[in-house]
Amino acid sequence: MIKKITCIGAGYVGGPTMSVIAQKNPHVEVTVVDLNQQRIAAWNDENLENLPVYEPGLDAVVAEARGRNLFFSTDVDKAIDEADMIFISVNTPTKTFGKGKGQAADLKFIELCARQIAAVAKSDKIVVEKSTLPVRTAEALKSILDHTGNGVNFHILSNPEFLAEGTAVTDLHNPDRVLIGGEDAEAIEALVQVYEAWVPRERILTTSLWSSELSKLVANAFLAQRVSSINAISELCEVTGANVDEVAHAIGKDSRIGSKFLKASVGFGGSCFQKDILNLVYIARSYHLNEVADYWEQVILLNDHQKTRFAERIIKTMYNTVNGKQIAFLGWAFKKNTNDTRESAAIYVADHLLDEEANIIVYDPKVSVEQIYRDLDYLGTRSSEENRRLVKVVNTAEEAVNCAHAVAVLTEWDEFKQYDWAKIRENMKRPAFLFDGRKLLDGAELQKIGFSYYAIGE
Ligand code: UDX
Ligand code: ADP
Repeated sequence: MIKKITCIGAGYVGGPTMSVIAQKNPHVEVTVVDLNQQRIAAWNDENLENLPVYEPGLDAVVAEARGRNLFFSTDVDKAIDEADMIFISVNTPTKTFGKGKGQAADLKFIELCARQIAAVAKSDKIVVEKSTLPVRTAEALKSILDHTGNGVNFHILSNPEFLAEGTAVTDLHNPDRVLIGGEDAEAIEALVQVYEAWVPRERILTTSLWSSELSKLVANAFLAQRVSSINAISELCEVTGANVDEVAHAIGKDSRIGSKFLKASVGFGGSCFQKDILNLVYIARSYHLNEVADYWEQVILLNDHQKTRFAERIIKTMYNTVNGKQIAFLGWAFKKNTNDTRESAAIYVADHLLDEEANIIVYDPKVSVEQIYRDLDYLGTRSSEENRRLVKVVNTAEEAVNCAHAVAVLTEWDEFKQYDWAKIRENMKRPAFLFDGRKLLDGAELQKIGFSYYAIGE
């Protein structure tokens, strides 16, 4: 029976997951640690609006468990020492240098964690990999931990994360399945018991370590592939006059295809899809499975094409020049109901338009000003002064659209549907262009109001 759980990494995965584990297992003490003091301070903030991760319903879960059996701390060593079970939930960015650059996952944070666990642990531990990882990371973890020679036994489990941002709390409360991969039956059972506190047993799947690790990559690759498939069709719809939503609806009625993940968009983003497919491609290539690698790589190439295509559509429609024109971006997050911007299509569309010297004014209900500049600066396309000269970030949609030549919808936030679009148009330059990268708004209605409306896949 597990009494104390520690989670290393208080990010988008570790924070919400541990909050729910603590909520549902009041007798287990759960401590989430992070090197980032600011982040831990935010998790401990009295004001629940200041939690570092925005997820609907998360504040209530944290309010229930925090201080009771859920703790956030920067004392990593102490938390490792005391735990029976340690989740590793640190970030695994795509490598930006050396072998596998731009494709393989950089495992340095994982390795650092393993070394720290090895250095500190005095009693047997179950170590659970929770970060998104390429297959066979468990092997590396095991090797580092087993070579410490201090007589401590480590059992490695893989427990991939399937929660989607924006719905993390409901996904955690009611998962389609929980996957646990491992070799040691007792260790597996210990983790099964943690989840059994609220997940029906038949939804808890146990597999080998490798199957579990690979399943995570494959699940995300399949989901992303559906988005790229419908996005490919969106381009065909645009040139042939079909409506991609109608096509998606019609094919989605086939129970073998299903209706989910068929919404055409300006391109998928998020921390997982691209990274996981790149990993899959990297693994396939490393085994010389070139056709397999090419097949999955195409999902990413199509996604890149979709973002570029949207930006070029804006430029072309606005008489082939956006130089000095004001373009209002509604949304910056990679999807609605999150403040996460990792790999968001908005970043790349903005970058493309900035190359053409457009002036962009961004409004997103949840993303901070600093984050938006950080995203643009990270690309390294132009100086940070230049990004600040060309891009303004505002606190309301009215400020963004006032006097704009065009509005571009980049994230499907619900509030955008509620706006008084007639009033917005009155304050815009003419012709008032509206580019809907999410096919979110009522196009027919907007055209009636007088907008020049363009949507993906129409
Ligand atoms: C994904 C997986 O869904 C989740 O199981 C895994 O644990 C992490 O990666 P997430 O990245 O949070 O979750 O969001 P998801 O809802 O999958 O959306 C990813 C991207 O695809 C978003 O940019 C979204 O806007 C886009 N998308 C999704 C579409 O463009 N169309 C769709 O039909 C669905
Ligand atoms: P994810 O989406 O995978 O949760 P995040 O970047 O949101 O990724 O969170 C990962 C967290 O892990 C960050 O807050 C980072 O500071 C933390 N982290 C990385 N390495 C370590 C480490 N060795 N010890 C403690 N925390 C770490």
